[in-house]
Amino acid sequence: MSKHMIYLHPTPVRIWHWLNALGIVTLCLTGAQIRFPEYLNIFGNYRTAVLLHNTAGLVVAISFSLWFFYYTLGSRKITQLYVPGVDDLKRGVLRQAFFYFFLYFFGCPNPHHATPDSKFNPMQKSAYLAIMFVLVPLVSLTGILLMNVSPLRELVIMAGGLKLLVGLHFLMACSLCAFLFTHVYLTTLGHTPLAHTKSMWTGWEEEEDHGEEAEKVHQAKPLADPALVRVKASS
Ligand code: HEM
Repeated sequence: MSKHMIYLHPTPVRIWHWLNALGIVTLCLTGAQIRFPEYLNIFGNYRTAVLLHNTAGLVVAISFSLWFFYYTLGSRKITQLYVPGVDDLKRGVLRQAFFYFFLYFFGCPNPHHATPDSKFNPMQKSAYLAIMFVLVPLVSLTGILLMNVSPLRELVIMAGGLKLLVGLHFLMACSLCAFLFTHVYLTTLGHTPLAHTKSMWTGWEEEEDHGEEAEKVHQAKPLADPALVRVKASS
């Protein structure tokens, strides 16, 4: 099967992504130690865990603004790439889920072929929209308020008080953790387990040419019999 290379991830996106990933992983580990100090001691003592947590929080908040300004003022592709269309929500998410949870294990081609102007499938779009427009901003905002309880006392009270803030922050953190595991697993479902991760380092993604036949079958009958799809593709 022939392959071709496409440039998918510009440098600012890759810098943001790995800075953000490092920050979120550090936040999850230090956050777990801060929340369960009697059971967990990953970073030596409690004070170090808090210091690392606050530093990683600032890294994530600052890198978020890099992502936001790059996609709004730089490439101006934020809605095109991150906001799912009606067809994405109506059919696309189901079709992609069927591929991830079923067709992938029959060696069927991914129904979505990434291009620089449409690099996310409908499931990625919906997930990244929730992560980047709700979870990351909210976990950062509640974190910044919790780091500055005395100077930002008025704002803390306006936000519903300390208890609510801690609860909201923890809920967001758990949701981000759950996303992290799912995200990393789904990134391994490329034509090789590291294909997508490699492209997030180099910017270049290797795409397989599946040819018209498989493409037509998939577009026409997304939930077609996998045996049929495979035969068609190889002929
Ligand atoms: C160590 C952990 C991580 C790994 C190995 C990883 C891997 C990847 C890979 C391979 C891609 C490109 C393919 C794709 O879109 O699926 C990607 C994209 C993306 N990841 Fe991650 N990721 C990690 C952590 C995170 C975290 C913590 C977040 C957010 C909180 C995140 C958010 C995103 C977003 C929004 C994209 C699309 C970026 C763009 O092209 O605009 N990732 N990730």
